[in-house]
Amino acid sequence: MSHQIRVRSASVDDVEGIYDLLKPFAERNIILSRDRDNIFQHLQEFLVAEYDNDLAGVVCAHIYGKNIAEVRSLVVSPAYQKHGIGKLLVEACEHWLAGLGVAKVFALTYVEKFFAQLGYRIVSKESLPHKVWTVCVHCSRFADCDEVAVEKILSDVPIEPMLLIPIVEVEGS
Ligand SMILES: CC(C)(COP(=O)(O)OP(=O)(O)OC[C@H]1O[C@@H](n2cnc3c(N)ncnc32)[C@H](O)[C@@H]1OP(=O)(O)O)[C@@H](O)C(=O)NCCC(=O)NCCS
Repeated sequence: MSHQIRVRSASVDDVEGIYDLLKPFAERNIILSRDRDNIFQHLQEFLVAEYDNDLAGVVCAHIYGKNIAEVRSLVVSPAYQKHGIGKLLVEACEHWLAGLGVAKVFALTYVEKFFAQLGYRIVSKESLPHKVWTVCVHCSRFADCDEVAVEKILSDVPIEPMLLIPIVEVEGS
């Protein structure tokens, strides 16, 4: 039997599902904690993956500036891990960010081997801009954070804007 995996922009109807996906990993300090309000307020940064019709994964792309964005809140439901969904979510973020003209993407992670398979290289945390840490200061592990910073240059990533607005033809000279 074949199954369908679809990555798409998140909608308000996904907020509860996103919250449920993130919560267990936030409780283990693997990702930053987000309440429902926070997810609503950043909803336009989220992509979700559906496995058939189930919400199977989520990722958030946060832009800090022209030259840097972060892939964060990446979670695939344990029931659907190792099906290629994490890879699809990160690649969709990269295409989306490349389409917006962002030069480089980074992640702070405990799964550096997963990111290495996607072409990310380890960099020193000190090389990241200071504004990156404005979120991290709220983490209980901030003082002794052992996450690894990884980054990827997006210049080779195909440009694929996620939002395609139909071309409208208008009359006029
Ligand atoms: C990390 C995570 C998102 C990966 O999602 P996934 O859907 O299972 O990953 P994929 O199936 O797309 O894996 C892609 C490749 O990475 C490898 N991979 C997956 N998880 C890995 C891990 N934890 N460590 C090393 N390699 C890993 C897979 O084997 C696969 O390799 P292959 O193409 O040679 O088979 C998922 O395990 C997860 O949600 N973990 C908990 C939360 C977390 O750590 N998030 C990251 C925060 S930055």
